[in-house]
Amino acid sequence: MLSRTTKDTVLLSVVCLLASITSVFAECTREGLLAATNSYVASFSAGKSDNLKLASSNFTYQNNKAADIRRGVLSQSHPIGLNTSTADTVACASYTMIISFSSGSNSKPYVTATQIRHSVDGDTSIIASIDIIAATTGSLFFNAQKTLGYIQKENWGVIDTVANRPSRELLKKVGDAYLDMWTDAKAADSIPWGTDCERVEGSQYTRPCGGQLPRGGSSKRNGNRRYVIDEVMGSVDVLCSFDALGNMPDSHEIRVEDGKVKYVHTIYGNLKASCTGNKTDTSCSSSMLKE
Ligand SMILES: *[C@@H]1O[C@H](CO)[C@@H](O)[C@H](O)[C@H]1NC(C)=O
Ligand SMILES: *[C@@H]1O[C@H](CO)[C@@H](O)[C@H](O)[C@H]1NC(C)=O
Ligand SMILES: *[C@@H]1O[C@H](CO)[C@@H](O)[C@H](O)[C@H]1NC(C)=O
Repeated sequence: MLSRTTKDTVLLSVVCLLASITSVFAECTREGLLAATNSYVASFSAGKSDNLKLASSNFTYQNNKAADIRRGVLSQSHPIGLNTSTADTVACASYTMIISFSSGSNSKPYVTATQIRHSVDGDTSIIASIDIIAATTGSLFFNAQKTLGYIQKENWGVIDTVANRPSRELLKKVGDAYLDMWTDAKAADSIPWGTDCERVEGSQYTRPCGGQLPRGGSSKRNGNRRYVIDEVMGSVDVLCSFDALGNMPDSHEIRVEDGKVKYVHTIYGNLKASCTGNKTDTSCSSSMLKE
């Protein structure tokens, strides 16, 4: 039999162990995540990455490929027209959309989708990875000014009433079903479309957004999905390889209000060259990618 003090010691160790496990899985705070997005937006604007606190020196992805932060979009300054961010306190990650313009003859306008990840110990001051989908002149349906015009009019305020916020499960399901529409004929009808929802794909605008939907047809599932889910904003962003139409890097962000899809934003990273303006390639022109 264990003595009383041994039992106490065992109990104390168990309590300490549980406490340390709890702290390892502590959620990141919304404030911390959004502070990191602010420093990212400032870096993007200035074209300087040295103010970002990074876990390692080479942790960036641009359009689904490992990239050197000193050579990617963060190496040039950008006049910013709009920036919005969402926070995922469970995954310890954030999503930021930036619309920017050219600052001179050497630079380009961009619409970028960025997911920033931190280690799950709750420390948002250090950035573990920056994952950027960057659309620019020549990308599918690209027109930064037009995109800005549509998105500026949208309301992305936080959903104040907790009971009205969509669940994490619903948001994940909607994000997945959206990307499954090209391979699963039933996916489109499984999505709760709002009657006056708006879809902005590149600079292409569709309202209501539940019209002209793909219903299967491709055998290649859109893969490499990375999620940022924010119940407070009612949003899910999924970065992926759009394999159904030929491995395009892209981002789909969806906002759900009152249980229904309200907004969809698609940012297409650079498209495979053969698709640009190619109306004979049916894999490019199918369904939502009609030109
Ligand atoms: C970062 O990664 C890129 C792509 O893999 C590589 O070309 C570059 O040399 C790396 N930079 C550093 C500083 O390691
Ligand atoms: C980003 O957006 C916020 C909120 O609209 C704004 O206050 C801030 O000035 C923007 N940052 C830049 C660098 O434009
Ligand atoms: C358009 O796509 C078709 C089918 O994939 C291909 O055969 C053709 O070469 C492409 N045309 C151009 C101009 O890229």
